[in-house]
Amino acid sequence: MRETLVTVHDEPVAPVHRRLFGSFVEHMGRCVYGGIYEPGHPSADGDGFRTDVQDLVRELGVTTVRYPGGNFVSGYRWEDGVGPRERRPRRRDLAWHSIETNEVGLDEFARWAGRLGVEPMLAVNLGTRGLAEALDLLEYANGEAGTALADLRVANGTPEPHDVRMWCLGNEMDGPWQIGARTADEYGRLAARVASAMRRADSTLELVACGSSSAQMPTFGTWERVVLEQAYDDVDFLSLHAYYQQHGDDLASFLASAVDMDRFVDTVAATVDEVRAARGSDHQVYLSFDEWNVWDQVAFNADEQAQEAVAAQTPREWTLAPHLIEDTYRAADAVVVGSLLISLLRHADRVHAACQAQLVNVIAPIRTEPGGPAWRQTTFHPFALTARLARGAVLRTGTDAPDVPTARFGPAPAVDAVATWDAAAGAATVLVVNRSVSDEAPVRVDLGGLPVARVVEAHLLHDDDPDATNGPDRPDRVAPRPLAAGVEDGALRFTLPPVSWAVVVVGA
Ligand code: AHR
Repeated sequence: MRETLVTVHDEPVAPVHRRLFGSFVEHMGRCVYGGIYEPGHPSADGDGFRTDVQDLVRELGVTTVRYPGGNFVSGYRWEDGVGPRERRPRRRDLAWHSIETNEVGLDEFARWAGRLGVEPMLAVNLGTRGLAEALDLLEYANGEAGTALADLRVANGTPEPHDVRMWCLGNEMDGPWQIGARTADEYGRLAARVASAMRRADSTLELVACGSSSAQMPTFGTWERVVLEQAYDDVDFLSLHAYYQQHGDDLASFLASAVDMDRFVDTVAATVDEVRAARGSDHQVYLSFDEWNVWDQVAFNADEQAQEAVAAQTPREWTLAPHLIEDTYRAADAVVVGSLLISLLRHADRVHAACQAQLVNVIAPIRTEPGGPAWRQTTFHPFALTARLARGAVLRTGTDAPDVPTARFGPAPAVDAVATWDAAAGAATVLVVNRSVSDEAPVRVDLGGLPVARVVEAHLLHDDDPDATNGPDRPDRVAPRPLAAGVEDGALRFTLPPVSWAVVVVGA
């Protein structure tokens, strides 16, 4: 493959918003129960949360965690999860056909987040519930002592308000699978009403309206426009959700998934601009990519259909914390996750928050065994390295790379890259992916006028077998290794093997 030239311009696009390194904890499968929380585990703390998992969450570098769903939130009664645990009801969770014990609720989650120094981002139920319950939850979570629900929180052991800043107004309300799904017009009106009432309680809240559940939804585009026409001036963010997977043996298209993410963000940003212009509004709505990841949804949907067929004969059991979508990630999946992070950073002028879905066990970078170990999936590594090393400001970065053919996206640049500049540390970070399935990629990065002369650290994520995975018996099979890289005459040079992702920090 010919050399790729990456040109780093000394031109900031936007700050590296720390909220880009968010994650997601849903009451789904074994994300909460048996994931972050397992009271009988040898590492459990006084609240029943696994400290081995907490150590990995810290290492992952997560900054924000969206909670408690996801589809789960659309049937959730937040009151079930507060107060004395022995009085909390067991309920059926209709979203995931599970039993919810409510052992973990808002106060426990917020304490867990506080211990880790991560910002909680809460979703309100706009499926089975609405405005009144959203306002009650806001008072319970954020109210100063002195009114009924804030006092209830105090009585339940949390004197200080949780001070949650970011609130999602429902979840995937366009999806027919969503409990209480709505039309765009219905949802837009509801979101505007709920947002404007929540702002009466606190005008500084940051509110997220639901965008489409994916760019493949038949209403994608129209949904965004209609919702924003109703709610534009009442909300701060519009959400995007996207999951990518390899279809059959088409690794080339899968590796180029970020081409789709780029287009998705550009399209939604254009819709935001269109509505803003039509309204003549001074207000800017930003994007919250609050669910993104690699997820084998084809396998999940086939499994769902099989279970429904069985249920037609024998009713499906309602179980506690079933094993749901515990995808085991491959080296190739980690390369795609790294490339999606490049896309999110490139769009930091529009995307101000993002959450990888989810955090533990459920399509997650961290996996656990009950009573046993917790380990890093392959996808842990690009996230942890990016969260640690992409700092300061995103710089405009040009890439002149040869194309690779892909069945889904046509010709796609084999190499993609983005750079950040941390003025305080005097260091630049270059994140780069080689999406070729077969060829090495020699890369030259023109560092322009940046005052850097040496490589500070350089990490390569690659395995000769793109299908290699990590597991409790081989936790480090796929892990970053040092990358040979050097700076000479203002240019950084290295060569990437096929199907690989790398990050290089250069300094003075
Ligand atoms: O992350 C898993 C599920 O995917 C979430 O509950 C839902 O919002 C999305 O469809």
